[in-house]
Amino acid sequence: MALKITVIGTGYLGATHAAAMAELGFEVMGLDVVPEKIDKLRRGEVPMYEPGLEELLRRHVAGIEGSTGRLRFTMDWAELGEFGDVHFVCVNTPQRHGEYACDMSYVDSAIASLAPHLKGPALVVGKSTVPVGSADRLAAYLAEHAPAGADAELAWNPEFLREGFAVQDTLHPDRIVVGVRSERSEKLLREVYATPVEEGSPFVVTDFPTAELVKTSANSFLATKISFINAMAELCEATGGDVAKLAEAIGYDDRIGRKFLRAGIGFGGGCLPKDIRAFMARAGELGADQALTFLREIDSINMRQRGRMVELTRQELGGGPFLGKRVAVLGATFKPDSDDVRDSPALNVAGQIHLQGGQVTVYDPKGMDNARSLFPTLGYADSALEAVRGAHVVLHLTEWREFRELDPAELGEAAAERVVLDGRNALDAEAWRRAGWRFRAMGRPGA
Ligand code: UDX
Repeated sequence: MALKITVIGTGYLGATHAAAMAELGFEVMGLDVVPEKIDKLRRGEVPMYEPGLEELLRRHVAGIEGSTGRLRFTMDWAELGEFGDVHFVCVNTPQRHGEYACDMSYVDSAIASLAPHLKGPALVVGKSTVPVGSADRLAAYLAEHAPAGADAELAWNPEFLREGFAVQDTLHPDRIVVGVRSERSEKLLREVYATPVEEGSPFVVTDFPTAELVKTSANSFLATKISFINAMAELCEATGGDVAKLAEAIGYDDRIGRKFLRAGIGFGGGCLPKDIRAFMARAGELGADQALTFLREIDSINMRQRGRMVELTRQELGGGPFLGKRVAVLGATFKPDSDDVRDSPALNVAGQIHLQGGQVTVYDPKGMDNARSLFPTLGYADSALEAVRGAHVVLHLTEWREFRELDPAELGEAAAERVVLDGRNALDAEAWRRAGWRFRAMGRPGA
C-alpha cells in the first residue's frame, strides 16, 4: 500500500513540502496550530507569496474542483497520528529573543503533541533546522512517550529550499540528505523520494549529527561567500577597484564559482542570519566555539553593509543630516520573488535613514503588507514611480526584475534629484547614466 504522509507546520517549508508530496503521488495530511492558516490552505490559498505554490496546492487540495484530492489539512493530532506512516516536522526554529541560540519550542511541542498518537510503527522525520544533538534527544523522547515505543522511529532530513524557488527546490532537490539509525528508516525515505532519486538527485545517508550539521554548515558556507565578497567590496571602495569585475574574474575559477558572489547590502531573511548565530551558540555549548569564531566576523561584515549603505546615501546627499531629505527605497523584502521581510537588509536601511530624520518612501512588488506591519511609520507608495516622485535620492535595495525594467528617463522626470544608489549591484549603470542619473553602486567607486 502506498505510504501516507503527514506534514506538521505549514509555513514556507511545510506548505511547499505538503504540496510537493501530493504532487509525487502520496496521500498527504498537513497540520498547523494556527486556524487561519488551515482555513486558507483548505481553500487552496497560500499564506505567503511563493511563485508556483498556489497552483501546486490547488492541484491537490481536497474539495477544490478538478484537484486530485490527495492533500488535506487538519488541526487534530489524533487524526494525524492515525493517518500517517511518515510524519514530517516542518515547524520553524527562530532565533531566541536576546540570544544567539535557536528557539526549539515549536519542534519540541510538535513532537510532544504527536508522540501519544503514534500507536503503531511510524517514522517521524525532522526537516526543521536544529542545533546538532537535537535528533538524538528527540529520538529518545519518542521511544519513551509513543505508545509504539521503539517502533516510533526518528530520522533527520534537512531542507535546502530557497524562498522564491521553493517549489522547484522541493520537487527537484539538488541533494537529499537523510540522517537515519535503521535500515527501515532509510528504506521508507528512499520510497518517499523515489521520484527525485530516479531523476538523478543524489541520496546521501548519514548519522544524526552529520545530517544536522550538513544544513548549518551549508548555510554558513553561503553566508561566508557573501560576506567575503562584501569584504572585497570594502577594499574596492578603499582602492577604487570594481567588485563586480573582481567577482566575475575570481568566479571563472570553478573551484570558487560565480554564484553567491554578488556584493551589496548583504544577506537577510529567516535563515542565514539566525542559522549562523545558532550554530555559534551551539558550538559554544559543545566547547567547540573556537571552530566557529570566524562566523562572528561573517555576521559583523554582513551587518556592517547596512550601515555602509546609510553612509553612502548620506555622502551622496552632501554629507549632512538626513532631515528634510526625501529618500525613495525600491525593495523591502530580503530577496526578490518573496514577500518575506524577516531581517531584511532593505527595510533595515530604510528604517535607519527614517530614524535619522529622512523622509523615506518604500515600494516593493510583493512585500508591502509585511513591511507595513513591521515598520508602520515608514512612508509607502503604490509604485516605484510614486516612491521616486520628489525624491532627492533613490536606493535600489532588493533586486526585483521589475526594478531592472524601470525606465530611468521616466523616473528622472519624477525625481527631485537624479541620484541613484544600487545596493544590489543589479541595475544597468549605463542606462541610468544615459538618462542623466548620477549612478553609484556599492564596491564600485570608479565604475
Ligand atoms: C537560504 C539557503 O540558500 C537555503 O539553501 C536554505 O534552505 C535557507 O536559507 P533563502 O533564505 O531563501 O535560502 O535565501 P538565499 O537565496 O540564500 O539568499 C539569502 C540572502 O543573501 C538574501 O538576502 C540575498 O539577497 C543575499 N545574497 C545572496 C547576497 O547578498 N548576495 C549573493 O550573491 C546571494
